[in-house]
Amino acid sequence: MLVIGGGIIGLVTAWRAAGRGLRTVVADPAPGGGAARVAAGMLAAVSELHYGEETLLGLNLASARRYPRFAAELEEASGQRIGYRPCGTLAVALDADDRAYLRDLHALQTRSGLDSQWLTGRECRRLEPMLAPGVRGGLRVDGDHQVDPRLLANALLIACERAGVVFHRAQTVRLTVEGGRATGAELADGARLVAGQTVLAAGSWSGRLAGVPPEMLPPVRPVKGQVLRLRLPVPPAGSPPFLSRTVRAVVRGNPLYLVPRESGELVLGATSEELGFDTTVTAGGVYELLRDAHELVPGVTELPLVETCAGLRPASPDNAPLLGPTALPGLHLATGHFRNGVLLTPVTGEAMAELLATGSLPEEARPFSPARFSAPRAERARVPEEQPV
Ligand code: GLY
Repeated sequence: MLVIGGGIIGLVTAWRAAGRGLRTVVADPAPGGGAARVAAGMLAAVSELHYGEETLLGLNLASARRYPRFAAELEEASGQRIGYRPCGTLAVALDADDRAYLRDLHALQTRSGLDSQWLTGRECRRLEPMLAPGVRGGLRVDGDHQVDPRLLANALLIACERAGVVFHRAQTVRLTVEGGRATGAELADGARLVAGQTVLAAGSWSGRLAGVPPEMLPPVRPVKGQVLRLRLPVPPAGSPPFLSRTVRAVVRGNPLYLVPRESGELVLGATSEELGFDTTVTAGGVYELLRDAHELVPGVTELPLVETCAGLRPASPDNAPLLGPTALPGLHLATGHFRNGVLLTPVTGEAMAELLATGSLPEEARPFSPARFSAPRAERARVPEEQPV
């Protein structure tokens, strides 16, 4: 079995497939890289809920529920920590528009049977004293946690190696197809990998692989996110931390989040830009993130800024992943995870391994079959519009 792409989705697929006894090869010039090196790692099934994404919500919740066991299993298999932190999330409003947006979100969450609690501005600041005095209210979501995606990627890489996954460190240039079946891939170093089953898990690049029949290329596009990393002060003994949970807001229509790690890192994100494969960090992107973060938590501008980076979210037309077989025998997809790649890692690994080992996807993954985009054009038009992050 061959996995094209060694980001977290490719790695979890390989790790779980190897665990089912399949001989597994991953092709990637730098496995463990990709969007996870940039992502903040929020497991935000409830606080990132959007209208029209109820089906995706079911998969997000199923994966969130798996996280504690998944983290323990992966840490055991790799001997590495992945920074899973059940700290909860507070989504706050700075003005009347943000407040109205959060009220709508709260109503949607309640209708969807989700747990979130409306707080006044004062209650928000009691929970997180570094919040700006102007905070007008917020939603406390105790079930939305975080993980460190860089640690997650490193641990998956080691777990794969320990499970006997073979890494071929080169770019894939072409899927090979013989007799109407995918048969493996050709790599930039001239290698030819032969496989009975191939999983295309190349994130934003999944829609561009040569050799895949055009009508089977996944409709995936890159959505750029710029992210900053700051260093938190070590609080004096007995003092509260700078932030004790993920804090998020929509500031002037831009979604913003601050994710404090136990390691002392504070991740601040993210822009959302449709600029193709561009990953330039721009002065404007950094300015807007810091300007908005300063309105939310004024003390952030005192912190050392230690890193700026940009990554590409692999977005699909309905914001949900493509999981499962294509119409080309032997070719499967695990891509299009958009804003939820880190959250969906556990459930994706299990679903893909089940497919590879048994030939059929588990029930919960079936709505995400690539076949939903093979419907006639008129059907496709009913897919909901993309929502901002
Ligand atoms: N899920 C956070 C983001 O996509 O920025």
